[in-house]
Amino acid sequence: MGAVMKVQKGWSCSVFFLLHMTHVAWTQIFQVVAPSSAVLVFLGEDVTLPASLSPVISAQRFEVRWFRDDFDSPVLLYQTLQIRPERQMQAYKGRTALFLKELQNGNVSLRLQDVRVSDGGLYKCFVDSGPWNEEVHITLKVEVLGGQPSISINSTKDQQTRLECKSDKWGTTPDLTWRDMNGVDLTSESSVTEERDNEGFLRVSSFIPIKQEFNVFSCLMRSKVPKPDWHAGLMVYGEYSEFMASSSY
Ligand SMILES: *[C@@H]1O[C@H](CO)[C@@H](O)[C@H](O)[C@H]1NC(C)=O
Ligand SMILES: *[C@@H]1O[C@H](CO)[C@@H](O)[C@H](O)[C@H]1NC(C)=O
Repeated sequence: MGAVMKVQKGWSCSVFFLLHMTHVAWTQIFQVVAPSSAVLVFLGEDVTLPASLSPVISAQRFEVRWFRDDFDSPVLLYQTLQIRPERQMQAYKGRTALFLKELQNGNVSLRLQDVRVSDGGLYKCFVDSGPWNEEVHITLKVEVLGGQPSISINSTKDQQTRLECKSDKWGTTPDLTWRDMNGVDLTSESSVTEERDNEGFLRVSSFIPIKQEFNVFSCLMRSKVPKPDWHAGLMVYGEYSEFMASSSY
């Protein structure tokens, strides 16, 4: 009796499995693909987190769920042919979108507006067709560009005159270059200090001693990520009693 029960159980299992497989085969098996490297964005800009179905099939009738840590509190949820804002994370309200017309091409990319520092990190894109679902992970890196540097004269206690080039609100340490009027790189003669402000941004200062009576100095702070550079220049005349600051970027 026991043996017969076991056999029956085995049968019903494989029958169910067969049905399940054929059902999946009738619909379509897909993958969600996304870039493996992090997506970079500057603070305050808009960004697209790219994701699409492979093979290319329409996602119009699928569930598309973008979330971070909490599956039930998504960044964006598309379900039953529409965006569902009900349980969206508060921090993303009014800042997210899908390319709805692109869903038919399997494009489930997320559009995120006005990026904040707190938006940085891992995103998960879960796509569910009913019988089949897949998930992909993407990292968003938020880069913070500092303010334009300014140069000022800064004398130490031992009366050595030096210039200070400073800029704040950097997310990561910038590359810094000092040049004189002939374009000679003086960076090796300078020293740099940085400290974090109470918002967690870096305040960067670089000091360079002044040896000649007349020179024009320029200080360039450049983000390690490609983007327009901030540039500051300062002319120093005679006794340093008069100076002119100019800047361009
Ligand atoms: C999805 O569509 C948007 C808008 O047309 C486009 O910018 C983006 O590159 C597309 N992404 C993918 C992964 O196809
Ligand atoms: C010179 O720089 C030091 C160190 O950043 C600062 O404490 C000091 O106030 C500066 N002095 C002037 C005159 O700007």
